[in-house]
Amino acid sequence: MSTDKLIIFDTTLRDGEQSPGVTLNTDEKIEIAKTLSRLGVDVLEAGFPIASVGDFEAVQRIANEVGPLMEGREEIGHPMTICGLARSTPGDIKRCAEAIASAPRKRIHVFLATSDLHLKYKLKIDREECIERAVAAVTLARSFVDDVEFSPEDAGRSDPDFLCQVLGKVIEAGATTLNIPDTVGYNMPEEYGNLIKYLVQNTPGSEKAIFSTHCHNDLGLATANTLAGISNGARQVEVTINGIGERAGNTAMEEVVMAIHTHPKFFPVHHTINTTMIYRTSQMVSSLSGMMVQPNKAIVGRNAFLHESGIHQDGVLKNRQTYEIITPETVGVTDINLVLGKHSGRNAFRERCKELGFGGISDDDFQVAFDDFKALCDKKKNVNDADILAILSNQISSNATSAFYTLVSTQVVGGAASTSMASVKLFDVKAEKEIGDAAVGVNGPVDAIFEAIQRSVGRRFRLTKFDISAVGEGSDALGKAEIQVMVDPTSIDTKAPQDERLAKAAFAASIADVDIITAAAKAYLGAINKQLEWESELAAGTARSIGEERKVDV
Ligand code: KIV
Ligand code: ZN
Repeated sequence: MSTDKLIIFDTTLRDGEQSPGVTLNTDEKIEIAKTLSRLGVDVLEAGFPIASVGDFEAVQRIANEVGPLMEGREEIGHPMTICGLARSTPGDIKRCAEAIASAPRKRIHVFLATSDLHLKYKLKIDREECIERAVAAVTLARSFVDDVEFSPEDAGRSDPDFLCQVLGKVIEAGATTLNIPDTVGYNMPEEYGNLIKYLVQNTPGSEKAIFSTHCHNDLGLATANTLAGISNGARQVEVTINGIGERAGNTAMEEVVMAIHTHPKFFPVHHTINTTMIYRTSQMVSSLSGMMVQPNKAIVGRNAFLHESGIHQDGVLKNRQTYEIITPETVGVTDINLVLGKHSGRNAFRERCKELGFGGISDDDFQVAFDDFKALCDKKKNVNDADILAILSNQISSNATSAFYTLVSTQVVGGAASTSMASVKLFDVKAEKEIGDAAVGVNGPVDAIFEAIQRSVGRRFRLTKFDISAVGEGSDALGKAEIQVMVDPTSIDTKAPQDERLAKAAFAASIADVDIITAAAKAYLGAINKQLEWESELAAGTARSIGEERKVDV
C-alpha cells in the first residue's frame, strides 16, 4: 500500500520552550536544532521572533546556521524548513520574515483565535473582523514567503462551520498549511478526529492545503488526538521532544512516530524520522532544558524497556516479543558496554560517538570528550552508551554555559553529625584569573558548595530546583544534577522595569559526573552562567523573553 508522507513539524524550541521553567540560551537552541535536523524533522518552529530581540536573534541564527545543514546530505537527513511564529499583525509578520530570511526553506506561521470565547473576551472582535484579520495576515505573509501556515487558535472549541469559513478564506489568500490547535487540550480523540474530517470535507479549496494537528495534553490525550487527526486526513503533526510545552505539554514526537512504526498498516502515512536517534535526542533535550523525563514515560522513560516481574522477565528471555512491542535498539537504547583502557580507544570512541549521532563534533570538543571518557574509564568498570551520552551532553552544556565562570576544583569536608565546609576555585573567564572562597553549609555539603560559589562570584541566587538522578545502574553510575536558579529577590532593590524582569527570570542547567557534589557544583555554576549571560543581554537591550514573558498579549 502506498502511503502519504507525514510532515513532522517540531515545536520543541517554540511551544516546548513555553514550558514553565525552561530557558534555553541560543547556543543550546542551535545544538537542539542541529540534532532535530539529523533526526529527520521536516519543519522546525525555531521561535517567536517578535517576543524579544534575543528570540529574534536565536531564530535568525538557526535560519543561518542550521537551515542549510542538510542541503545535499540526504544520506544523513534531509533539508529542514525553518519556521517562525507570528500573531496576525503586520509588525509580527515582518519581524518573523526578517528572522527566517536566510534559511533555504522557510515558513511563516500566523495564528489568530477563532473560538467565540476568545473573540469576545480576549480579542474583543466579531467573526467578520476575525476573517478580515486572518486574510490580511496570510496575504502579508505570502508577500515574504511561499510557505505560509495558518492556525485558528482554540480551534478545538471553535464552531466548525465558522472554521470552514475562515480556513476557506485563508486558503484563497495563499495559506498552504492549516493547523488545527486544540489549544487547551479539551478534545476527545473521536471529537478531534471528526473535526479534522469535517474541515477536510467542508472547507472550500481544502485540497490545496495540508491539514495539521497541534494537540495539548491537559487531559493526557495529546497523542491519541494527534493519531485520530492522522486517521482523518491530517498530513502534518506538530509535536515536541518528550512532549514538553505549555502547561501539561504538547504531543510527544516519539509517541506518534513509534505508534506509526508499530502499526504500519493502521495509519496511511510514512515518516522520515530516524527512530534510532530518538532516545539520544530525548536525553539531550532533557539535559539542556532541565525538564526531567518521568521514569515511566512512554518510549523514552528510564523504565520504558525494563521488565520487573519474574513472569515478564522469563517471557522476555524466551522470546522478547512476549512482552516487548518495540525493541530498545529501534529507538536507540542499547546496552553495548565499551570497556576501554586508558591508552587505547580513540578510534573506537570516535566510532561510538558517530553511532550515537555526535559524528559532527569539532576536534576540540572531541578531545575534551575523549579526555573525560578516559578519566571515567579510570573510575568506572564499564562505560556504556548512557555514560558516553552524558559526557557528550556535558560537553554541549558546558560550551553553552561557561561564558563567565568555570569550575576548577572543589573540596568538601562534612559528615552526618557535623557541619559541612566547602571551598571552591573558579576560573573567572572575563577577568582571566582564578578566584575562590570557602563557606559553611547549614544543610550539608551541597549547601556548603553553593554558598562557596556565591561568595566567590559575589552574588546571591535563589535555588528554585535541585534534582539528582542516576545515569544508568549500579553504585558506580554517574549522578546527574539538574539545577535551576533565580536571582535572590532580596538583592534587587529598585523597581525599574529591568529589575521586574530580573525578578521573574529562572535559569536551568544539568551536568552528570561520577561525583555527585561535583555534578551539583558544575550544574549550579552553569545555571549562574546562564543567568549572568541573560543579565548582560538585558543591559544591552537584547534579552530573550523568558518564562511568562513569552505569553505575548494577543
Ligand atoms: O496551542 C496553540 O494554539 C498554539 C498556536 C500558536 C499554534 O501554540
Ligand atoms: Zn500550542
